[in-house]
Amino acid sequence: MNFLSEELEDYIKQHCETEPELLQELNHETWEKVLNPRMLSGHVQGRALSMLSNMIKPNNILEIGTFTGYSAICLAEGLVEGGTIDTIDINEELETLAKTYFKKAKIEHQVNYMIGNAVELIPTLKKQYDLVFIDADKENYAVYYDLVFDKLNTGGYIIVDNVLWSGKVLHKPKPEDIDTRAIIDFNKKVQNDSRVQNVLFSIRDGLMVVRKKN
Ligand SMILES: C[S@@+](CC[C@H](N)C(=O)[O-])C[C@H]1O[C@@H](n2cnc3c(N)ncnc32)[C@H](O)[C@@H]1O
Repeated sequence: MNFLSEELEDYIKQHCETEPELLQELNHETWEKVLNPRMLSGHVQGRALSMLSNMIKPNNILEIGTFTGYSAICLAEGLVEGGTIDTIDINEELETLAKTYFKKAKIEHQVNYMIGNAVELIPTLKKQYDLVFIDADKENYAVYYDLVFDKLNTGGYIIVDNVLWSGKVLHKPKPEDIDTRAIIDFNKKVQNDSRVQNVLFSIRDGLMVVRKKN
């Protein structure tokens, strides 16, 4: 969802770092071959994720919702030497494409790609993380937040995608609209959490950036 005019969106793209060629290729191949290609972060959000990761310089990243690997590659750009990214997706059909691009990006040795339900897999993870990116099923956003919180180092960050949900967060959702209700509840939960500092950035469909306070 874009909230700005196409002209402004283009202007923003022209004044962000150019999308790396490999990511342009992945973007293109995702649109050619995969259902719901819009889920991919894309040029501006991808550069924002890379910038944030480069600022944080994480040792370990956890991503929930790999899709075709676009955001994982962007986030991995900020890893310190020897750093790792654990990334989870429930859809095994995406494995070949994601793994192909992790290889092309020369990050396959840093990526621990897990296929399965994140709700079940996260409790099995033994690492501590400096950065967590939540970008999977919306109804579990609050569950993911709670599951990862103790695995996040103090001073670490959680970045959460789609928190504006195409602007639907402004209106009372219909009873059957579980995703909108979940995102509204999630945003309230973060806003009321005294353990964190949070800023909602209006990048693309909304990125909530959360820092775990001391
Ligand atoms: C919005 S896409 C992720 C996009 C990706 N982060 C990017 O920016 O390119 C959401 C992904 O979450 C995955 N997903 C949905 N429910 C999940 C679950 N319970 N556990 C793990 N992955 C899940 C979907 O299969 C889908 O690939």
